[in-house]
Formats: sequence, structure tokens, C-alpha cells
Amino acid sequence: MANIVFKKSGLTAPWTDNEESILELGEIHDLDLDYGCRMGNCTACQQPILSGEVDYPSGHTGEPDEGNALLCCSQPKGDADVVIDA
Ligand code: FES
Repeated sequence: MANIVFKKSGLTAPWTDNEESILELGEIHDLDLDYGCRMGNCTACQQPILSGEVDYPSGHTGEPDEGNALLCCSQPKGDADVVIDA
């Protein structure tokens, strides 16, 4: 399973499939991350992805900026670690 690395926060947390999203994983570990709709529409939760890839199993309509991911609806793609600049 992939680790999710929140670089600025200094947190590395294993992805377990018990969480709905990378945002939720960060919140479980007490990170104070930005969000709005939590449904993939508003882009308030976007953060730069430094390495790794994410997937959007429930889809999204908001478009993150180039190189960013919507944390509220994303999950790691495959087993590679995902490093987020947050
Ligand atoms: S919180 Fe609105 S797109 Fe993620």
C-alpha cells in the first residue's frame, strides 16, 4: 500500500482503504487542510503533488491547476507513495 507524505506538515501516513480520500486521511492525523464542498466541485482542497499519482474513484467536476490534486476526492493510484506539498 502507498504512503501519503504531507511534506510541509512532516507527516507520512499509510493509505489503508478505510479512508474515502487523502483529505480524510490528513484529517484523521489532525492536519488542518483547506476544503470547501468535499465533493470535487470547488477546488478549494487542491494541493501540489510532488510525486506519485492519484485517482478519482468518484469523479470530480472541478479542475485543479496543473500539477495539483483535489484532496477531497482523490486516492493514491497504485502502490507508489504520493508526496503532497501540504
Ligand atoms: S473541497 Fe471542493 S473540490 Fe475538494
